[in-house]
Amino acid sequence: MKVFKVHRDVHDALKEEEFKTIGLVPTMGALHEGHLSLIRQSVSENQLTIVSIFVNPTQFDELQDLENYPKTLASDLNKLKKIPGSVWAYTPSPSDLYQDNIKAQKYDLGPLENCMEGASREGHFQGVATVVDKLLTLFSPTRAYFGEKDFQQLKIIRRMVQLRQLNVTIVDCPICREDDGLAMSSRNARLSPKERKLAPVIYHTMLKAKAMKEKHTPTEIMAWTEDTFKEFPELTLDYFSIVNQENLETIEVFNEQINARAFIAVKLGDVRLIDNLKF
Ligand code: PAJ
Repeated sequence: MKVFKVHRDVHDALKEEEFKTIGLVPTMGALHEGHLSLIRQSVSENQLTIVSIFVNPTQFDELQDLENYPKTLASDLNKLKKIPGSVWAYTPSPSDLYQDNIKAQKYDLGPLENCMEGASREGHFQGVATVVDKLLTLFSPTRAYFGEKDFQQLKIIRRMVQLRQLNVTIVDCPICREDDGLAMSSRNARLSPKERKLAPVIYHTMLKAKAMKEKHTPTEIMAWTEDTFKEFPELTLDYFSIVNQENLETIEVFNEQINARAFIAVKLGDVRLIDNLKF
C-alpha cells in the first residue's frame, strides 16, 4: 500500500501506472468496519482505490467538535494495509487541499441543506461539498463511494456533482451496524461504557416506530418517538423526522408512491449520533 501526504505525489504515481478505473473513498479516519465495507466494494469494482483520510475543518461548526474528533492515523493505515488489492492512502494536511484559504465554497444546495443535519449544524454541508469537490477534482475517479449512514450527505454530494457537472459515478453503500444494532461510527469510540450500552436504543426505537407504520400516521409516530425518548434522560433527541427520501421533505401520509425514510439525531453525553432507516 502506498501512502501519500501531498496530492502532487499521487499525480506523479498515477502517471507511472495505468489504471483504467479508480475508486475514491473519502473518510475522516478512525476507520471502522463501515468505512472498510466501502473500501472493499471499491476494490472489487476498480483497479485502484484511493482512500482519503482528512478531518475536514470546514465542515465542523464547533471548534470543540473538531478537536474532539478521534485521530488514529497509524492504526487506520494498518487496517488499510490488510485489505487485499490496490489501495492507496492520501492523508493530506489542510494546506494541501485548501492552500492558505481554509474556507468552504458556496454551492446552491437548495432545501436539502436546510433540514435535519443542515438545520442543526450551520454550514456543515457547504464544508462537506467543498472538500468532496476538491477530492473529486484532484483525482477524477471513475466512482466515489459514500455510506447511507450519512444519507443526507449523499444527497448533498449528488447535488454538488450535478451542479459542477463532474464526470463520476456516486455509489451508495448500505449502513453497517454493530451486533446490537448501533450504526457504526467513529464517534462511538467516545461513548463511555454506560453510554455505549444505552446507544442501541436509537436503532431499536426506530424499528418499533417503523412497525407502527401500518396503523399510524407519520405525525403520530413522531410524537410516540419523542415520548419514548423522554423515558431515557441520558438521550436527548435532537430530531426524528419521517421524510420522502427523494427530496427529504416531511410527509403527512404513507403511500406506495412515496419512498419514506426516518432520520434521527440524538445527543448522548457530549456525543452526537445519527442514524436512519428505510420505512
Ligand atoms: P466519515 O464520517 O469518516 O465517513 C466516511 C464515509 O464512510 C462516509 O461516506 C460515511 O457515510 C461512511 N460511513 C460511516 N459510517 C458508516 C456505516 N456505519 N456504514 C456505512 N458507511 C458508513 O462522512 C465523512 O467522513 C465526511 O463527511 C467526508 C465525506 C469524508 C467529507 O469530509
